Amino acid sequence: MPIDIGQITTDSPEATERVASALASVLRPGDLLVLDGPLGSGKTTFVRGLGKALGCSGISSPSFVLVKEYEGTHKLRHVDLFRIDESSALDDLGLEELSDPSRITVVEWAEPAIPLADEGYLEVAFRYGETANLRTIEFRSVGNLFESRVRDIREMLERLQERASVPGN
Ligand SMILES: Nc1ncnc2c1ncn2[C@@H]1O[C@H](COP(=O)(O)OP(=O)(O)OP(=O)(O)O)[C@@H](O)[C@H]1O
Ligand SMILES: [Mg+2]
Repeated sequence: MPIDIGQITTDSPEATERVASALASVLRPGDLLVLDGPLGSGKTTFVRGLGKALGCSGISSPSFVLVKEYEGTHKLRHVDLFRIDESSALDDLGLEELSDPSRITVVEWAEPAIPLADEGYLEVAFRYGETANLRTIEFRSVGNLFESRVRDIREMLERLQERASVPGN
C-alpha cells in the first residue's frame, strides 16, 4: 500500500531546489525516485537541487539522451523516459533494472518503467499552483524501499515548512 508522506508548496525554482537538497540527506545508493507531473512543473529543477546537495554539478534535462550520470558524494543517475513508450525499448537503454545498488536513480516520465520497480520507490509529484511560480510537491512511499524512512521525510517537510513560515525568511 502506498503511504502518503506529505506535501509542500514552493514559490520559486530555488525553493524547489532547497526541498530536493533537504531530501538528499535521507537518500542512499540503491534508491529510486519517480518524479511525476506535467511539462514544466519542476521535475528537472528538483533534480538540480538534489545534484547540488550531492556535489554533482551541471545537471540538465536528459530529454534527448534519456540517461545522464553524475558523480558526487553519491553517484546520481537521471533518467527521462518522455520519449519512450514501450517497456521493451527500456532494454535498449540497459534499464532492465531501473534502480542500481551503487547509485541514486531519479526518473522523469517513469510510467513505462514502473513495472520494473520491484523494490518500490519514492514518488514525488509536482502540481502547478494558482499563480505562475507556485508548485505543490507531494511525496508518497510506494513498496518497501522507503517504508522505514517515511517518518524522516515527514519530519524534513515539517522543518522546511516551519522555516518557510518564519517572517522575513
Ligand atoms: N516553484 C517552482 N519550482 C520549480 N520550477 C519553477 C517554480 N516556479 C517556476 N518554475 C519554473 O518552471 C520551470 C520548470 O522546469 P523543469 O524543467 O524543472 O520542469 P520539468 O517538470 O522537468 O519539465 P519536463 O516535463 O519538460 O521535463 C522552470 O522554467 C522554472 O524556472
Ligand atoms: Mg524535465
